[in-house]
Amino acid sequence: MNVIITADHAGMTIRNEVKKLLDEMGIEYEDTGCSCETSVDYSDYALPAAERVAKGEFDRGIFICGTGIGMSIAANKVKGIRCALTHDVYSAKLTRQHNDSNILAMGERVIGPGLAREIAKVWLETDFDGGRHERRIGKVTVYEDQQ
Ligand code: RB5
Repeated sequence: MNVIITADHAGMTIRNEVKKLLDEMGIEYEDTGCSCETSVDYSDYALPAAERVAKGEFDRGIFICGTGIGMSIAANKVKGIRCALTHDVYSAKLTRQHNDSNILAMGERVIGPGLAREIAKVWLETDFDGGRHERRIGKVTVYEDQQ
């Protein structure tokens, strides 16, 4: 597995915590996030990173901003992306099992780095269940293809 991680100015602490986790798990990653302390636009980071997941250059993405909302809204505009904004471990597991989410978004102004790390770990370790969930995702994909 390889992962693209990105963050705006409001997500740098969790971004760094998740990078430590990826190092510990031996997962390859590229960090395209903001390296400055000044204000930037989450859309400038989310859209190009989501496109790289959609094209298959990366298996998964982890996107961090203040709330995670801007990153998730932008990422979900990219065809083929299923970005889950997740702030609890249960949802992190279920969004992999049921939604086959390919991007995880989290908000640093909502949760701390310890919980973010647990969420990311479970999300990275959990496989898609397939079956009926495949059919449900397929209906969303058909709709997306018709746009
Ligand atoms: C930045 O202030 C903040 O708006 C951004 O990080 C994110 O929370 C937007 O959804």
